[in-house]
Amino acid sequence: MVDILPLSSYPSYIDLLPAIQTCNITNLPENYFLKYYLYHALTWPQLSFVAVVRPKNGYKTQGQAQGQGNVAGQYPKVVGYVLAKMEEEPTDGVQHGHITSLSVMRTHRRLGIAERLMRMSQRAMSECHRASFVSLHVRVSNTAALHLYRDTLGFQVDTVESKYYADGEDAYAMRMDLSNMWLDWAEIERKDRLRQASEEGKDADEGDEVGEVGKKKKEGEEEEKKVRVKVGRGLGVGDLVEKSEVQAAT
Ligand SMILES: CC(C)(COP(=O)(O)OP(=O)(O)OC[C@H]1O[C@@H](n2cnc3c(N)ncnc32)[C@H](O)[C@@H]1OP(=O)(O)O)[C@@H](O)C(=O)NCCC(=O)NCCS
Repeated sequence: MVDILPLSSYPSYIDLLPAIQTCNITNLPENYFLKYYLYHALTWPQLSFVAVVRPKNGYKTQGQAQGQGNVAGQYPKVVGYVLAKMEEEPTDGVQHGHITSLSVMRTHRRLGIAERLMRMSQRAMSECHRASFVSLHVRVSNTAALHLYRDTLGFQVDTVESKYYADGEDAYAMRMDLSNMWLDWAEIERKDRLRQASEEGKDADEGDEVGEVGKKKKEGEEEEKKVRVKVGRGLGVGDLVEKSEVQAAT
């Protein structure tokens, strides 16, 4: 069983970077220094994903794993990855994502792993960064990758970049629109406001109080004073600022 995880979800993703680098070196001639992987993982932790083989007996708990080498006590076997980023200074000023590298080990190909890695990264680009589109380069001779990008995912060839690769091969510069995947934050916030307004308008019935709170007050006993407090998204910045005691006293 192969799990696809955001790189950032692993207890310490730094542990996985050498295995991702090995996967890259095994499958592609375009290789990078370890610090380039680290740069991606630290700067855009939501955008890169890794395919790992689930251990036969499941993941160990931290306790079981103590003293076995890394945070989780085990290194899952990496069989694929997508390394992705946001373009830092787009020449046209349009916010967009870029696939730096993608590969899947031969032993695990044609199982839909690359497709899932790509779709998850694209969704994260769109939802976390509101990317307008995602771009990438692929060798003109790379039939498998070209099928994946064009036929399965729906990328289109933008231009052909002559002698893009170090060995002189041309690249297709491809891109795919992501604006149809954007979250409608105005609508989400509108629904939040409606939900909050309807909660404020009624005293929610949460059943009878139990325990100490549920005990009936004896005659003469003073009722505990209750204060309504705001929680969650309803809080404005002003509610979060600590009030000065001195000011309050004056
Ligand atoms: C390209 C690569 C990432 C595909 O990984 P994968 O996990 O096997 O791909 P998937 O199983 O998700 O395949 C999805 C689609 O890609 C296409 N595809 C994948 N491998 C293919 C192949 N050998 N020939 C033709 N089409 C292929 C198909 O359209 C496939 O859909 P289908 O299985 O429904 O026909 C993998 O072959 C690889 O790592 N190659 C070496 C590294 C590389 O070229 N990376 C891309 C650099 S730009």
